[in-house]
Amino acid sequence: MGKNTMTLTDNRTGKSFEYNIIDGTRGPSVVDIRSFYKDSGMFTFDPGYTSTASCESKITFIDGENSELRYRGIPIEDLAGKSSYLDVCYLLMNGNLPTPEQSKNFDLEIRHRSFLDEGILRLFDALPDHAHPMATMGAATMALATIYKDHLNPSNEDEFRVMRRRILAKMPTIAAMAYRNSIGVPMIYPDINRYFTENFLYMLRAYPGGKLKYLGNGHNDEIKQVEVDALDAILTLHADHEQNASTTTVRNVGSTEAHPYVSIASGIAALWGSAHGGANERVMEQLKLIGDVKNVPTYIAKAKDKNDPFRLMGFGHRVYKNRDPRAQELKKLQDKLREELHLDSHLLDIAAAVEKAALSDDYFVSRGLYPNIDFYSGVILTALKIPIEMFTPIFVIGRIPGWISQWTELKQDPTAKIARPRQLYTGK
Ligand code: ACO
Repeated sequence: MGKNTMTLTDNRTGKSFEYNIIDGTRGPSVVDIRSFYKDSGMFTFDPGYTSTASCESKITFIDGENSELRYRGIPIEDLAGKSSYLDVCYLLMNGNLPTPEQSKNFDLEIRHRSFLDEGILRLFDALPDHAHPMATMGAATMALATIYKDHLNPSNEDEFRVMRRRILAKMPTIAAMAYRNSIGVPMIYPDINRYFTENFLYMLRAYPGGKLKYLGNGHNDEIKQVEVDALDAILTLHADHEQNASTTTVRNVGSTEAHPYVSIASGIAALWGSAHGGANERVMEQLKLIGDVKNVPTYIAKAKDKNDPFRLMGFGHRVYKNRDPRAQELKKLQDKLREELHLDSHLLDIAAAVEKAALSDDYFVSRGLYPNIDFYSGVILTALKIPIEMFTPIFVIGRIPGWISQWTELKQDPTAKIARPRQLYTGK
């Protein structure tokens, strides 16, 4: 049987061009149009890449119509809350879940790599109080490239492995220090006796000298296992999402042979936008702005009004035109933690009313606008005493294994080329 092909005919000249159709393991097939310009002298036009597969990948699969998300073939529902976040990182980076021995060694290595060069600490000093932690994180991550100058040889797997683990280990420290710097309190070093996620909460909450914040009556701000588990599940749900805007940015920057830490810093920049990872911060602000269940119809009307720039934050997704499976997992987590972590019932009631109103409104239903992951994370993060400006940094921490696995895959792809799209020129 011959290859499947697609023929395109230029009706102006009657010339036809034939292109191979390539099938993936799952998901839509692709038409290989790499020679299209050479053949026809024309470009394809696809702003926002709505129909363009920019690379071949073996890492993450999404079926947006059927609410399916898999890391290395494993459904997200089998990972969130069931495997530790670090095991999920190992899965994304290596292709398989670790054995108990591998898991222990990986965890130990990550703990030991969590410290920052003292030079980076001085960089924080140069930045003002009240700087948004995302801006500081981008700067600090970029600055890692001034210290670690290797990791550019894709055939040296040992070097690549160290680089991936280093960036994963250091990001919670960078995030916590960016936050502490923004509120003008002393830096806290990582505590290697603590697991990754607990260590992050510790670095946010601790006083200098390793003591957790004093709450009065002989109590301190202890870190509960339920909090560690909840944040671990949230990080897992953010760990990768195939070729989203920030991952594409990481790949594009990586395609120029830029350093990996610089590529990751560009991913942080892309994630910050409110159409992407920045939406979780905006959801919380919006719920507070709505203020009361009785105001929900007003804001639903604003979101539907084409003359009003207001959008319902945490709703809609480029790929999911049905339920976002990560959002569904978070909703379950929210319900489970409602009593245990004393989630803010006023905000939960507003969120529930927004969801109910949107999902019974033809505007949202006909456009496939469902709550996305950002709609549910905020109320849980607030109950974990995470300040609002740290919501997007938490997304960054969660997304590191995805970005760095995708960066590595790009580097190991012999067909990869510098990302350099074309344009339709309509100027003078
Ligand atoms: N509120 C109101 N209307 C919306 C919303 C929303 N949140 N999202 C999309 N729409 C409408 C658009 O106005 C458009 O309507 P039209 O067909 O009448 O012109 C239609 O739905 C399609 O929207 P697009 O912007 O074309 O869809 P796209 O796939 O380009 O954008 C995006 C997806 C950016 C996520 C968008 O839904 C949005 O801005 N959502 C709010 C921000 C948000 O929650 N972002 C987080 C995404 S998840 C993540 O990054 C982790």
